[in-house]
Amino acid sequence: MRTIYVVGIGTGSPKHVTIEAIEALNRADVLFIPDKGAQKSELADVRREIIARYVTKPDARQIGYAVPRRNAANPDYGQGVNDWHDALADIFSVLIADVPTGGAGAFLVWGDPGLYDSTLRILERVSIPVRIEVIPGITAIQALTAAHGIALNRIGEPVTITTGRQLGPVQIDSVVMLDGQLAFLEADPNLQIFWGAYLGTADQLLVSGRLGDVAQDIVATRNAARERHGWIMDTYLLRQPQ
Ligand SMILES: C[S@@+](CC[C@H](N)C(=O)[O-])C[C@H]1O[C@@H](n2cnc3c(N)ncnc32)[C@H](O)[C@@H]1O
Repeated sequence: MRTIYVVGIGTGSPKHVTIEAIEALNRADVLFIPDKGAQKSELADVRREIIARYVTKPDARQIGYAVPRRNAANPDYGQGVNDWHDALADIFSVLIADVPTGGAGAFLVWGDPGLYDSTLRILERVSIPVRIEVIPGITAIQALTAAHGIALNRIGEPVTITTGRQLGPVQIDSVVMLDGQLAFLEADPNLQIFWGAYLGTADQLLVSGRLGDVAQDIVATRNAARERHGWIMDTYLLRQPQ
């Protein structure tokens, strides 16, 4: 049996990496690094920096793998995701076969493996039996609220975590992730927004205020940053006015 560590690495700062994560990475014989293409090479660079800083195991190997793109043209979203996971499971099976029997491999997962990440679901589909161990990481949500110096929830109140695609009228304070469509532009302008991009990195950007007052500032900041980096990851909290 092989052990696979699914290690949350935080959202871009090597300082987000926990001691538990460092220990797991140092138990791995093979470290897997996803490559999402030239435009997003900074994401692979962060993982390499984490390994260079923290992994002292002399014989640990690093194996990069190209992440296939999901077919966004598939009108059946669920089927598109399912096919994409199947393709990734085939890649994972090949990668895991490179881990010595009785040894360990590690996937360095952005943020926390339990939040909008499919590594665990894909590992359920691999053809090789493995023992899975998950190491939690700092999520974009924690990085967002810490950067703004706010609590996630109001006293005793719930919070919804959703995607731009799923954001409807905001009845409950909502954290929005994976929003390529700028869903906040459709929301009640009297909501408060706490927005952040590249959270945890040296390029972190923050905007907050009444949505109606700052929405266009966020759009302009977002567009300029995306142009500069070639990619953007942003997260925001929409909160009912107090
Ligand atoms: C596929 S999800 C991964 C979430 C990750 N597992 C986590 O725990 O935060 C990608 C989304 O996370 C958010 N995200 C991840 N890293 C971020 C960062 N450094 N700054 C802002 N948002 C980030 C964005 O909403 C992005 O679209």
